[in-house]
Amino acid sequence: MEFNITVLPGDGIGPEVITEGVKVLETVGRKFGHRFNLTYDDVGGAAIDKYGVALRPETVEAASKADAVLFGAVGGPKWDDPRARVRPEDGILAIRKGLGVFANIRPVKVFPDLVDSSVLKPEVLEGVDMLVIRELTGGLYYALPKRRQQTKHGWTGVDTLRYSQQEIERVLRVGFELARGRKKKLASIDKANVLETSRLWRQVATELGPEYPDVELEHVLVDTCAMQLVQRPSRFDVIVAENTFGDILTDEAAVLAASMGLLPSASLAGIPMEGRRARGLYEPIHGTAPDIAGRGIANPVATILSAALMMRYSLGLTEEAAAVERAVGQVLTDGCRTPDIAGDGDRAVSTTEMGDKVVEAL
Ligand code: NAD
Ligand code: IPM
Ligand code: MN
Repeated sequence: MEFNITVLPGDGIGPEVITEGVKVLETVGRKFGHRFNLTYDDVGGAAIDKYGVALRPETVEAASKADAVLFGAVGGPKWDDPRARVRPEDGILAIRKGLGVFANIRPVKVFPDLVDSSVLKPEVLEGVDMLVIRELTGGLYYALPKRRQQTKHGWTGVDTLRYSQQEIERVLRVGFELARGRKKKLASIDKANVLETSRLWRQVATELGPEYPDVELEHVLVDTCAMQLVQRPSRFDVIVAENTFGDILTDEAAVLAASMGLLPSASLAGIPMEGRRARGLYEPIHGTAPDIAGRGIANPVATILSAALMMRYSLGLTEEAAAVERAVGQVLTDGCRTPDIAGDGDRAVSTTEMGDKVVEAL
């Protein structure tokens, strides 16, 4: 089969990890007889430097015609001046919105071989296997007004937290559907004790519940959820949260897996269906890691696993996706470790070596 993929490496370690993701993609192409036509473009700081904007309309146009988008990461100290007119992060926000990918699926699994790489105790990590679904195109990130303003009492800043019933309902449905295919447990996260949007969220979740009688729905306050994620993470199966909560909770969840460099994500405009074709955006959950960028030591696994999710949810390549996931597991079993997951006495490998090992295992 033949597929058109838009590749947006971005900044910092983005291009480093994307190189390995693409290497794995091309290996799958050779091994399984597929052709991936890759179109590269600039996004984030790289696009600001070249074009003065974080994402060009023609990039969105091309991405929305492609079968899928593979995205690295954007941002960095060079573009971090709070007075700057444009920000690299505008690029990722615009492509998510432009593609309408409201459901961001972030699987959190603990590789058995990495239990000792986590700062948490092995017994806490036992049985951890969850899906966090983060609402991705609404809430605090996008709603207007959003501005800074000088008043006679000094500056004020405003962000707006707004959700419509429809935005809440469609992402919750993704949660219910995915829970159905798993342990049939859905934790809906909110801050209903304080926020009006959260009270609406809880109301919508409660009203949807009877449509999914086989799924056990519970409401968990976000602060409690944050605590339980490190105290007793295995109690969670599928979690659905609004944009900001989902962002923060998944960085926390990366600690369970041992590193930010391990968690992939898939963003879709509907209910994910394995083996079907639906346009999606695939990105590791981590950022540009300015502290290690340019040194060739970033962990490419999150990006490689994002490419696997792309095969599963956007390209209809279920078997190929599983092969990539198995290859990653094998490489970790073989003791291959980038510095972020290396223990005392382990010889750490480079980004390139890690990618090569996955290719070899395939
Ligand atoms: P970060 O995720 O870039 O890094 C956090 C920590 O995790 C760092 O210590 C980093 O070295 C480590 N880390 C992250 N990815 C890693 C990998 N693949 N291998 C090994 N270690 C890894 O978060 P940050 O430092 O807060 O943000 C840096 C920049 O990235 C900011 O400009 C931020 O806006 C941007 N960012 C972009 C995205 C995205 O494009 N999707 C996501 C998050 C952050
Ligand atoms: C992520 C990142 C982004 C987000 C930033 C860079 C805009 O933190 O993908 O998790 O908050 O969505
Ligand atoms: Mn984040």
